[in-house]
Amino acid sequence: MANVSISEEGLARISALGLTPEQLPRHVAIIMDGNGRWAQNRGRARIVGHRRGIQSVRAVVEEGCRLGLDQITLYCLSIENWKRPPRELTFLLRLLRHFLKVERAELMEQNVRLTMIGRREGLPSAVLDEFDRTVEETAENTGMTLCLAVNYGGRTEIADAARRLAEDVRSGTLQPDQVDESLFATYLTTHGMPDPDLLIRTAGEMRLSNFLLWQISYSEIWVTDVLWPEFRGDDLLAACHAFAARERKFGGLPTPPANSQARRPSAPKATR
Ligand code: IPE
Ligand code: IPE
Ligand code: MG
Repeated sequence: MANVSISEEGLARISALGLTPEQLPRHVAIIMDGNGRWAQNRGRARIVGHRRGIQSVRAVVEEGCRLGLDQITLYCLSIENWKRPPRELTFLLRLLRHFLKVERAELMEQNVRLTMIGRREGLPSAVLDEFDRTVEETAENTGMTLCLAVNYGGRTEIADAARRLAEDVRSGTLQPDQVDESLFATYLTTHGMPDPDLLIRTAGEMRLSNFLLWQISYSEIWVTDVLWPEFRGDDLLAACHAFAARERKFGGLPTPPANSQARRPSAPKATR
């Protein structure tokens, strides 16, 4: 996992808000929503909103690199999105393929490493080929990781993981009492990635829509009414600013001030 450093420009941007790099999230996951509404508000076809949304993807990748984030994960296509009309789906898949092809050079320039999560089965081979090529070409980049969730569903991911784990138990390579949270996580498609610190949803909907159900158990959630095609670097920065003001307790108690004499007992050892 890269520990990406913040650029001078990024440092100036967060300093103006009174923030330090340590207060920024390391991994930001985004539910990019509102493309259809953006287009419909203008009397245009929904696909116009999807095309426009690419500009927002570019903007958040640029801002993420500027801020030195370790990872941005974008929800591009859910398993449930197959319920949409074939014409919209064909367009979305073509757009994704085009993005991977056209942005490859830019990702290299930005030192961004591309990864993908989601089910490969069901995706056209032309899209998978572009993915594989971009993942391979950017594999050695040491800057931010851009993870695209395509044909992704949180429940499907967990069920697929459980099936493969059960197969390993059946074949004898795994014992049931070896199964704990960290072992289970190695069966997920996000294996090796940090959990998101911050989850952003655009277009105002207060739901998760089956995104990263396992991984966001302790993510901070930030919802904005801004529709995805209008989301820009300043919006990402605003989300990071809000994140910095949150107190993350992970089920514990607020961290006492640095000069506090209060002693905390050490956590009891986990027992099975
Ligand atoms: C998000 O925008 C993009 C995808 C789900 C692929 P929508 O297409 O869901 O836009 P709205 O929610 O209908 O406005
Ligand atoms: C979530 O948006 C999926 C993606 C952003 C890819 P949707 O627009 O599909 O979610 P719902 O249907 O409003 O829950
Ligand atoms: Mg939507």
